[in-house]
Amino acid sequence: MAQIIFKDVVKKFGAVTAVAGVNLEVRDGEFLIMVGPSGCGKTTTLNMLSGLETPTSGDILIGETVVNDLEPGERGLGMVFQDLALFPHMSVYENIAFGLRVKKVPERELDRAVRRAAEAMHIAHLLAKLPRQCSGGEAQRVALARTIVTDPAVFLMDEPLSSLDAKLRVDMRTELKRLHERLRATFVYVTHDQAEAMTMADRIVVMNRGHVEQVGAPLEIYGRPATAFVAGFFGTPTMNFLAGEITVHKGGLVFRSANVEQALPASVPASLAGRKVVFGVRAEHVLLGTTGMRGQVDMLQPLGDSTLAFFNFGGDGALVASVEPSTRLAPGENIGFSFDAERGHLFDAEEGRRLN
Ligand SMILES: Nc1ncnc2c1ncn2[C@@H]1O[C@H](COP(=O)(O)OP(=O)(O)OP(=O)(O)O)[C@@H](O)[C@H]1O
Ligand SMILES: [Mg+2]
Repeated sequence: MAQIIFKDVVKKFGAVTAVAGVNLEVRDGEFLIMVGPSGCGKTTTLNMLSGLETPTSGDILIGETVVNDLEPGERGLGMVFQDLALFPHMSVYENIAFGLRVKKVPERELDRAVRRAAEAMHIAHLLAKLPRQCSGGEAQRVALARTIVTDPAVFLMDEPLSSLDAKLRVDMRTELKRLHERLRATFVYVTHDQAEAMTMADRIVVMNRGHVEQVGAPLEIYGRPATAFVAGFFGTPTMNFLAGEITVHKGGLVFRSANVEQALPASVPASLAGRKVVFGVRAEHVLLGTTGMRGQVDMLQPLGDSTLAFFNFGGDGALVASVEPSTRLAPGENIGFSFDAERGHLFDAEEGRRLN
């Protein structure tokens, strides 16, 4: 049973609070990805789970056991670090075998396990090489094989793909997801890359300044971000945000800012009238046409499958819309715009909490 629980876990380094009271349940066998900006406490959280750091307060449980005082080696975890930490003077074979040699596993059994792990990671042809003779992606797979071979119930990975080039990173996402499906072990994975989190995770934990902002399935996080921070963190381009107020007009709710007036759907609670809010809308839900509010095209960014149209409106307003690549637009052009209001997000102006 490899369920993991964090209970009110705090970690302070002197005056710095790296982790500020995390409560989290990692389900047995799930691929959980912790994501957030640099310095938000991801590595510290993972290190407390692995035993490299001790919580200042709170408890961490693996299965039924509180592991706060257990040594890293007693926790039944396998770790893959950002820098891979392969032994440079040992062959790929010996690197993979290392954990089993430490455990004094008999030679025949060890050999079988090393070859099986190497085959699973498609590196059986590299066993005689040294790490420096491997490409970045190959070395990455050696590091994974070295962890797989010890058959941990829980894999902990801290930005394991960060040293790879863009293409290889994307390929490795698929490999890691396959690996998880095959092993059915619990994966706890740290990254600051939202795309990596979206594509691999069963559930995502979004962290910000030592707090958990939201835990949810990738599409839930993208479609119903619980806070403005989460909304802004996920999605390319970044979600459009407009600061304003909710007012009542002809019996319905309207979002109003200096330059924008947008009727809100009936699903928005009437109790929000008068509230200062931030209206968030993704580029794909900004609609351009001949009617609506007026703006002026500033810049176009063709992405191939779509084009981003950046435009200005009403003085200092700026928005980005995602349009069909065949759409004819030119910088300076006057356009009409509106929002798919059903897909708009309302956040409290001060705390950033979702309101709709
Ligand atoms: N050993 C330490 N001593 C003092 N402060 C630390 C220590 N380790 C981490 N911190 C601080 O704790 C906070 C969280 O650090 P952490 O390494 O967990 O962030 P992270 O989310 O992993 O960031 P990154 O994406 O850059 O790896 C940071 O402000 C960091 O400076
Ligand atoms: Mg880190």
